[in-house]
Amino acid sequence: MNDPKLDLRVRPARAGDVVSIFENIGYWAGQGKMLVRPMQNIFENLRDFFVAETVAPDGTATFAGNGALHILWGDIAEVRGLAVAPGVQAQGVGKALVEACEVEARDVGIPTLFAWTYSVGFFEKCGFTLIDKTKDLHPRVWSECLRCPFFVGCNENGLVKRLDGVPMPLNLPEPPPTQVPPGIR
Ligand SMILES: CC(C)(COP(=O)(O)OP(=O)(O)OC[C@H]1O[C@@H](n2cnc3c(N)ncnc32)[C@H](O)[C@@H]1OP(=O)(O)O)[C@@H](O)C(=O)NCCC(=O)NCCS
Repeated sequence: MNDPKLDLRVRPARAGDVVSIFENIGYWAGQGKMLVRPMQNIFENLRDFFVAETVAPDGTATFAGNGALHILWGDIAEVRGLAVAPGVQAQGVGKALVEACEVEARDVGIPTLFAWTYSVGFFEKCGFTLIDKTKDLHPRVWSECLRCPFFVGCNENGLVKRLDGVPMPLNLPEPPPTQVPPGIR
């Protein structure tokens, strides 16, 4: 149930957040909702991450979730590593994290957001549209899939959101083709 008193803030992640992010993703990976993310990967990509916190009336901040925006190419960035802490689901935390990613994409001039997910309904509420992953995928969205143990027979869904008012970057080069390991397809 929504807590009307929930005072939420979203800010760029700091090094001191990595253990919380790692444990939160690990928790949901254990529930089969997302892929596990090694701690080294979180440190290496820390500037992609946002952290949501609830703030008590006395100013005490409590970790409430994490999400990341990873730029794939000049026209597309992926919302990834999105996980709301157990106990604060369905109170707007996930949406606030996606909004932070969207603001960041606009700031750097990236016109399209992409997400791989099992939570299609949530991303649709955030303005994303389901795509046909057999034919509509940008070549760069496979970058992490190549390391994924579920690459063959993947049942995640791909969704995109075109950001109004953000033009395609000028002089955008064609992305290099994805290097798919032999025998995969
Ligand atoms: C999926 C997840 C990110 C959603 O975050 P949340 O904070 O619980 O969701 P919010 O409260 O921000 O919901 C925003 C809207 O989406 C809706 N929504 C949330 N989860 C939904 C779902 N699974 N299916 C359909 N709608 C959903 C909410 O009802 C709300 O709708 P409203 O704007 O009309 O009120 C969160 O539940 C989570 O971390 N789940 C476990 C990990 C996971 O699945 N991560 C996604 C991997 S990409």
